[in-house]
Amino acid sequence: MDMRLTGKRALITGSSAGLGQAAALMLADEGVEVVVHGRDEARATAVAETIRSSGGRADVAVGDLADDEGADAVAREALAGGPVDILVNNAGAYDHLSWADATPEVWARAYETNVISGVRMIQRLVPQMRERGWGRVIQIGGGLATQPIAALPHYNATLAARHNLAVSLARELKGSGVTSNVVAPGAILVDALKELLTTVAPAQGWGTTWEEIEHAAAEDWGSNDIGRFGRPEEIAAAVVYLASPHADYVSGATLRVDGGTIRNVQ
Ligand SMILES: NC(=O)c1ccc[n+]([C@@H]2O[C@H](COP(=O)([O-])OP(=O)(O)OC[C@H]3O[C@@H](n4cnc5c(N)ncnc54)[C@H](OP(=O)(O)O)[C@@H]3O)[C@@H](O)[C@H]2O)c1
Repeated sequence: MDMRLTGKRALITGSSAGLGQAAALMLADEGVEVVVHGRDEARATAVAETIRSSGGRADVAVGDLADDEGADAVAREALAGGPVDILVNNAGAYDHLSWADATPEVWARAYETNVISGVRMIQRLVPQMRERGWGRVIQIGGGLATQPIAALPHYNATLAARHNLAVSLARELKGSGVTSNVVAPGAILVDALKELLTTVAPAQGWGTTWEEIEHAAAEDWGSNDIGRFGRPEEIAAAVVYLASPHADYVSGATLRVDGGTIRNVQ
């Protein structure tokens, strides 16, 4: 299937690792010129090199999106190579804190890093998409936005804010040719999660081989209809679809990619 993305330019925030990296690689495979972003220049450059070495086009933008200066630098670098047609607001962080451990400062920092970071990029890039009459804004949200758990309360709340602002933005962009949507992953097997599961497996009695551990952990931590954790490429595929002209008639939507973890809610 031709995704009709050749020649578009995309900034994927937080694409030096994890889900963002997978989205950058898949968009590049579809002919998109990608801007790889992270705070760590070496990690972002390594992803860009991987794309270039397989014939794709990639630039790098470096900056911390938790403040205005960092966001200015990222927008400047992203726009230096041409207008940005697709913004994937993926950068974010989740520290495993409880209600007892998450201080007000932790809550405020999580909101800066996970919510206002994306707003900063919307404010810097969407006006130009609007002028050109076509564009895409995709927030990476998550199932915890609508079915929060006891742990990571500050993080759950930031995901809910991402879902909410994406719909408001869709309404704001009415008739502009620019859409705003959410991809809501379930638990996705990035390196950090695999390490965590392997570490806690003996105490949890999840088995010894990776196959045993994943199966048992997926049952204990977010049981779903598929019986495993998701893969970064499965989130990337949803991003590619929403970024493409095939999704011109999709706005204000949440595309859950979670094996059926979340039920009966948007
Ligand atoms: N993995 C999951 O199961 C899952 C599920 C639902 C939602 N999500 C969401 O998906 C997104 C990616 O998660 P992931 O699991 O792929 O995480 P990850 O592997 O830790 O990658 C996070 C990315 O965000 C960047 N980043 C973090 N803080 C930043 C900041 N202040 N400014 C700029 N960049 C920053 C990191 O870049 P540097 O470290 O190089 O700066 C990195 O590229 C997150 O927003 C997360 O909330 C993940």
